[in-house]
Amino acid sequence: MPNLTRKEFLKQSLLASASLPLLSSVSEVVARPLLIPSESSGLTTNEVFWANVRQQFSVNPEVVNLNNGAVGPQSIVVQQSHIKMYEESNAAPSHFMWRDVDGKREKLRAELANLLHCDKEELAINRNTTEGLGTVIFGIQLEAGDEVVVSDFDYPFMLNQWKQRSERDGIVLRQVQLPLPIEDNNEVVDLYRKVITSNTKVVHLTHVINWTGQIMPVKEITKMAQGLGCEVIVDAAHSLAHIPFSFKEIGCDYMATSLHKWLGAPFGTGALAIKKNKISSVWPLLSSWEPKSGDIRKLELLGTRSFPAEMAVLDAITFHQNIGLDTINNRFNYLKNHWAEQVKTLKGFKFHTSLKSDFSGAMATFSIDGLKAQEIADFLFDTDGLHVGVVDWNGLNGIRISPHLYTSLDELDRLALALIKLLNR
Ligand SMILES: Cc1ncc(COP(=O)(O)O)c(C=O)c1O
Repeated sequence: MPNLTRKEFLKQSLLASASLPLLSSVSEVVARPLLIPSESSGLTTNEVFWANVRQQFSVNPEVVNLNNGAVGPQSIVVQQSHIKMYEESNAAPSHFMWRDVDGKREKLRAELANLLHCDKEELAINRNTTEGLGTVIFGIQLEAGDEVVVSDFDYPFMLNQWKQRSERDGIVLRQVQLPLPIEDNNEVVDLYRKVITSNTKVVHLTHVINWTGQIMPVKEITKMAQGLGCEVIVDAAHSLAHIPFSFKEIGCDYMATSLHKWLGAPFGTGALAIKKNKISSVWPLLSSWEPKSGDIRKLELLGTRSFPAEMAVLDAITFHQNIGLDTINNRFNYLKNHWAEQVKTLKGFKFHTSLKSDFSGAMATFSIDGLKAQEIADFLFDTDGLHVGVVDWNGLNGIRISPHLYTSLDELDRLALALIKLLNR
């Protein structure tokens, strides 16, 4: 056996596991039952329960994945359901995939509407947040000179889409500068109010900012902006199955989310919610029999895509609901605080996220004076197999930690210890 450095060892074990027939191995696993105690109080810190939750996932124990905010893994039951429908579809795709698998579309619409707290007739099923928001950004009526308000911490793809619309149609982008982290909702509302003018037609908001995990007061901003005559679009890529919210309560006009982040649905699944009275004025991005129809289904004519992936979303919803959003959100905050409390007073450490549950959920971002984020990330991976997110945006160079339901306290202790080791190098 050659003497491998830790980095080489991790690389080889990753390669070895990647060369396993992953699909057949997951489909052959006998999924252990998810055991839910009848009493939900105390679940946040019930490590026996969370160890059982961890068994529901097929995570590679050699890599401690602390970058779940990027894209989340699916539980074994979701993977197996997906594989089963995939296999059934392949028996004769135009027959089984289009007829049987896609036959559950209206059920899925109702279940997703229930999760987002919108009407079933307000919900379109699509592939991701980028597509959902792109449908709105390119589909709503705007004229040259109309203003759209965005922020410097909105997601780059959305800013790009707005820039493209601005170049093409002459709309004007105005940007709010967000001094993150913020713990004062009134201050945030004021920042947005100040850039809105009589020409502003749209305010684009990110509910949970991906760079730091900051939860924005979208309900309050929406109320203020609509009062000034604007429509409001919410990027909820990180909200679903992560923090409690309701489309109806926020009151925004448009909202898109990805189901492959915190809900643990198959990659390439998303949802778009549009207020009923706005649907007819959104031009479909791709195709439609009746572009001006008030039927939300006009936004689902995306061409051929994977219906097994879409329909396995139903299994992800069941998995999520079996644990429950409140339990999940409490656990996420508990995990975040578990590692953050151990390192926050270390020399040179700076948090770019408020750790309070009103302002963040699972994700938190830090930097260390004198160290580049990539340097920290490399150290964590090379010494301890800890995979973290590197944030480099708008002057913020830091490390984002995003645990998930299957993350153990032991893994977070390893993170804290590795950071202490790094500072004592
Ligand atoms: C805030 C935010 N919006 C949108 C997206 C894009 O999501 P997707 O790639 O699923 O379209 C992301 C992805 O990380 C995000 O963090």
